[in-house]
Amino acid sequence: CSSADETKTVVIGLAADSGCGKSTFMRRLTSVFGGAAEPPKGGNPDSNTLISDMTTVICLDDYHSLDRTGRKEKGVTALDPRANDFDLMYEQVKALKSGIAVEKPIYNHVSGLLDPPELIKPPKILVIEGLHPMFDERVRELLDFSIYLDISNEVKFAWKIQRDMAERGHSLESIKASIEARKPDFDAYIDPQKQYADAVIEVLPTQLIPDDNEGKVLRVRLIMKEGVKYFNPVYLFDEGSTISWIPCGRKLTCSYPGIKFSYGPDTYFGNEVSVLEMDGQFDRLDELIYVESHLSSLSTKFYGEVTQQMLKHADFPGSSNGTGFFQTIVGLKIRDLYEQIVASKAAEPVAAKA
Ligand code: ADP
Ligand code: G6P
Repeated sequence: CSSADETKTVVIGLAADSGCGKSTFMRRLTSVFGGAAEPPKGGNPDSNTLISDMTTVICLDDYHSLDRTGRKEKGVTALDPRANDFDLMYEQVKALKSGIAVEKPIYNHVSGLLDPPELIKPPKILVIEGLHPMFDERVRELLDFSIYLDISNEVKFAWKIQRDMAERGHSLESIKASIEARKPDFDAYIDPQKQYADAVIEVLPTQLIPDDNEGKVLRVRLIMKEGVKYFNPVYLFDEGSTISWIPCGRKLTCSYPGIKFSYGPDTYFGNEVSVLEMDGQFDRLDELIYVESHLSSLSTKFYGEVTQQMLKHADFPGSSNGTGFFQTIVGLKIRDLYEQIVASKAAEPVAAKA
C-alpha cells in the first residue's frame, strides 16, 4: 500500500548555545503547523519534550551521559562530547525516524540528575534541538533539514545580561565569568556545527549605528544553502542578483536608525549560499506585509501569511527585528519541505519502498 500514513518521520535539527532563542524559535515553528506544543500529558513535570499534533520537539540535553555532579567530578561542561551519549542519541533518532517508539531519558534541569525515561512515539515531524544535533556524523545523516542559530558574542552577552541579571539576579561579573568559562568548549564543539547547517540565522550588532555596543538593534542574516533537496531559498526582488534595499519610509514606519535589507549570493564554508539580511527594526508589525510582498519563494499558503504569523506572536522575543522574521520564514520553509517529502513518498511506486 502506498498511503501517506506510511510516511516515516521527518527529522529536523536545531543547534544553538543555550539562551540563544531555540525555545522561542520552536514556539514559532509549531505555530506554523497550527498547534501549540505542550509537555507530554501525565508524565514527568520536568520533561523537556514538547508535543503537538504534528511535531515532537526533544531537547538533546536528555542525552547527557554525565549528570551535574558527574560533570563537576570529571571537570567537563555540558558542551563537551564526553558528557553526552551520542550512541544512544543515534539509536533513538534512527528508531523514531523509522517509526519505532523509544524510551528516552530525561535530564532534569532542576535537580541536575537523569530521571527515569519517558515514552516517545514517532511523530510526523521530529525536531531535535540543543547543543549537538549536527555533531555526530551518524545523527547528522538522519537529518532532513538542519538549522544553526548563530548569535554573535556581543549579542549573546546582551541577552544573557537581560535574562540572568534581570530575571535571575546574577551579577554582571558572574555572567561574564560563566560566558568565558564556556567559550573554549563552545568554540571547539558547538560553533563548528554551523558548517553543516542548511540554514543559519546569524545575529550581529547593527551597522546602522556607528560603534553600537548596546546590542538592542540587530543585523540579522539568513544564510540558505543552495542545492538542498526540497528547500528553495527565499529571495528579494530577483533571484541571484545582489540587492540593497532601503524600504520607503512612508510605507514602512521606522524610527532611528531606520531599516535596511540586502540580498545576494555568497559562499559559506565552501558552500554556495543565498543570504538575506535585515538590519534595524520594525515599528509597526502590520506594515510587514509591505516587506513580505517584495520577497519571493516564501512557501506561504496565502498572501500575507508571514505577517499574520508575526502579528500572532508579537509578544515573543525578536518580533520587531530579523530574528523573529527569519525564524518565521524558516518555519514556513520547513512546512513546505515536510509537505514535499510526504508528497514524494506517496508518489513512490510500491516496489521501490521495500
Ligand atoms: P534557549 O531555548 O536557546 O535557551 P530561549 O528561546 O529560551 O533560548 O531564549 C532565552 C532568552 O534569550 C529569552 O528569554 C530572551 O531574553 C532572549 N532572546 C531569545 N531570543 C531573542 C530575540 N530574538 N531577541 C531578543 N532576545 C531574545
Ligand atoms: C544544560 C544546558 C547547558 C548548561 C547546563 C548546565 O545541559 O544545555 O547549556 O550549561 O545545562 O550545566 P551545569 O553543569 O552548570 O549544571
